[in-house]
Amino acid sequence: MPNFYATTPIYYVNDRPHIGHAYTTVLTDVLTRYHKLFGYDAFFMTGVDEHGQKVQKAAATRGISPQQHVDEYSEHFRNLWPKLNIDYGYFIRTTDDYHKKFVQDSLQVLYDKGEIYSKEYSGWYSVGEERFFEESELVDGKDPISGRAVEWLCEKNYFFKMSKYQQRLIDYINENPNWILPDFRRNEVLGFLKKPLNDLCISRPKSRLAWGIPIPFDEEFVTYVWVDALENYISGVKDRKHKDGSPFWPADFHIIGKDILTTHCIYWPTIIMAMGWELPKHVLAHGWWLIDGSKMSKTSGTGVNPMDYVDTYGVDVFRYFLIREMVVGLDATFAHDSFVRRINSDLANDLGNGLNRIHKLTLTNFDGKIPAPVESGEQEAELLSYSQKATQFAKENIGEAKLSLVVEEILNSVKALNRYLEITAPWKLAKSTEQKDKDKLATVLYTGAEVLRIAISLLSPIMPQKMEQGRLMLGAGDGPLKGGEVLGKGEALFPRIQEEKE
Ligand code: ME8
Ligand code: MG
Repeated sequence: MPNFYATTPIYYVNDRPHIGHAYTTVLTDVLTRYHKLFGYDAFFMTGVDEHGQKVQKAAATRGISPQQHVDEYSEHFRNLWPKLNIDYGYFIRTTDDYHKKFVQDSLQVLYDKGEIYSKEYSGWYSVGEERFFEESELVDGKDPISGRAVEWLCEKNYFFKMSKYQQRLIDYINENPNWILPDFRRNEVLGFLKKPLNDLCISRPKSRLAWGIPIPFDEEFVTYVWVDALENYISGVKDRKHKDGSPFWPADFHIIGKDILTTHCIYWPTIIMAMGWELPKHVLAHGWWLIDGSKMSKTSGTGVNPMDYVDTYGVDVFRYFLIREMVVGLDATFAHDSFVRRINSDLANDLGNGLNRIHKLTLTNFDGKIPAPVESGEQEAELLSYSQKATQFAKENIGEAKLSLVVEEILNSVKALNRYLEITAPWKLAKSTEQKDKDKLATVLYTGAEVLRIAISLLSPIMPQKMEQGRLMLGAGDGPLKGGEVLGKGEALFPRIQEEKE
């Protein structure tokens, strides 16, 4: 059994989760469920990033201690995931003692190896991104990522000799073209690496930031939030083993948004190289969800609460929309109209309709049992070839997370089924008294049910609850239908969203 270990970013707990966090976590859940479906021992970890200035500020604003704040806000994330059908293997909190010790031990190792030194440093600091920027990186004097104000800071700090690893990193990326996905993000990182890399400031004076992990070799300092955060990917699973006894690290996939590409593709691999650890196998960076043209961000206050859509339309439909609408890597827009259109056309019209037709016709004509096919001909072979293609395509493309395309292939098989029903017209065959029509009817309903069974199985990582209901409606087990399966109760799985006309 092959193994699979994926991670989401650990989210800042300075505010509540929004659709951006929901998306990355749903995406990772779906990828992990696909790996399970295809026979992997698959696991993913998510969690929260609890240290740093943003959290310290948020707690101060509320007049409570940072620990109280993170205890409360980490629950907003932890409680959201079950509502989104997220089946994570472990939830990590960076304020847990074992994590703090892991980070401190690794810093001591780096210090002892001579990979860390101290010096006076000045630069532009962005609290929003929790990092320094070069003057040349600023856009109109502001943080180039969030567009927020930066402040000039001058202080003693500790530095990791990141520059030392520049060439090794470039070589690694060139030799492993699939390491960063999609490839235009790889090119972005390589472009960045054309300029000389600076050493990485890995400390903050306690006088400015008290809420962090103390640096073991200088108690006046805490460690930089990114060193603390990135190491979660190893600390959280260091005592865990896959069923075959092999360790979780190196991860198969770090799944992140494009906003944290540099930290994951430059800071993290160079720290790993210095530590002598193994590199993760892939970093997959997706784009941003936009609403009215701007990035969803809790700190800029445009947060649409994903739970609104989950409560109104149901969790599986919401997950379907996220996975179908965003081409992994590119930005996508969360718009109400496209949500309604997508659900109505793909799920209500195509999948729901196909399933209801087969279910109803089988119920009335074969006493609620899937008939055995009598004679499969060219039409049936053609229809089933769509299912085979979708299955093959899914197996080949989940490795690069091309999920919107996978869904399209699956829906193509469902559309082909509905066309097949229009052509073979089983409702007419059902009225005939001739034996050859009765035989054809059995073949049509069997083949239709089998195509649906495959589509339902392939969509189950995206819509676990609804697809389980669909499977029960067909009376399907694990393998191909044989005939004789007893249908479950008919249900309208995907009611059309009826909108009031203005
Ligand atoms: O960066 N569209 O945490 P964070 C899509 N703690 N995804 C989005 C998004 C959007 N509009 N907005 C946020 C941090 N995300 C660090 C990470 S990891 C060792 C430390 C998602 O709370 C996306 O995955 O700011 C992005 O990378 C992440 O949330 C940032 O979450
Ligand atoms: Mg952020």
